[in-house]
Amino acid sequence: MKLQIYENKEVASKQVALYVVSKINEFGPTPSRPFVMGLPTGSSPEGIYQNLIELYNAKKVSFENVVTFNMDEYLGLPPSDPQSYHYFMYSKFFNHINIKPENVNILNGLTDDVEAECSNYEAKIKSYGEIQLFLGGLGPEGHIAFNERGSSRDSKTRKVQLVESTIIANSRFWNNDTSKVPKYALSVGISTVLDNSKEVIIVVFGSNKHNALKETIEGEITSRYPCTYLQEHKNCIVVTDYSAVNED
Ligand code: GLP
Repeated sequence: MKLQIYENKEVASKQVALYVVSKINEFGPTPSRPFVMGLPTGSSPEGIYQNLIELYNAKKVSFENVVTFNMDEYLGLPPSDPQSYHYFMYSKFFNHINIKPENVNILNGLTDDVEAECSNYEAKIKSYGEIQLFLGGLGPEGHIAFNERGSSRDSKTRKVQLVESTIIANSRFWNNDTSKVPKYALSVGISTVLDNSKEVIIVVFGSNKHNALKETIEGEITSRYPCTYLQEHKNCIVVTDYSAVNED
């Protein structure tokens, strides 16, 4: 595991975006050999998406042959709901670049067949052979995507129940009203991320992520902190900032 520490989130986001662009360009994707990426939502990756849009506008990168798989989606929210991860991805990123709609994959939070939705998603990821780059964030309690405490190393895409701390943390998007936060989500598993990705980049910003960062880097590998499984990946970079590193 490599650790990259930047002065702040803004500087780090720019560097990650430049790195992603260099990886796409180096790979030289074509329609039959696309660059496959895993993508997160949340406030941590927002600056990365802004920088990627700027680099796209400056003609430094094309997303024409990029395929994306988002990590998770709330169960029960339609894509038109501003708090859905569909809405987030299109408004913050996909609507501003030249990605093809058929290359965007996001779990359907309105599915009436959860098992089929999850197993098809897992199978579709596998059908590409390898995810070149999986970008992710961490919850304050160390979750990856919605792999909450107790998620196993072998977990695959599935329905998950959100723990109270996640509901409280994410209630900021519902005027701090926890009763409005969906209690279930669909999420890729730990195995989905670690066993299918050539490279994983995890962005961890802000003082509220200090403990999660510490566990990720030096914690004992345990399902209590799903982020610790990242230590087992052969090519994982954790990108962080001073405020997450310094306890205060
Ligand atoms: C949610 C998402 C995670 C994300 C986490 C942290 O719980 N399911 O994928 O990493 O929030 O979000 P933020 O970056 O806003 O702190």
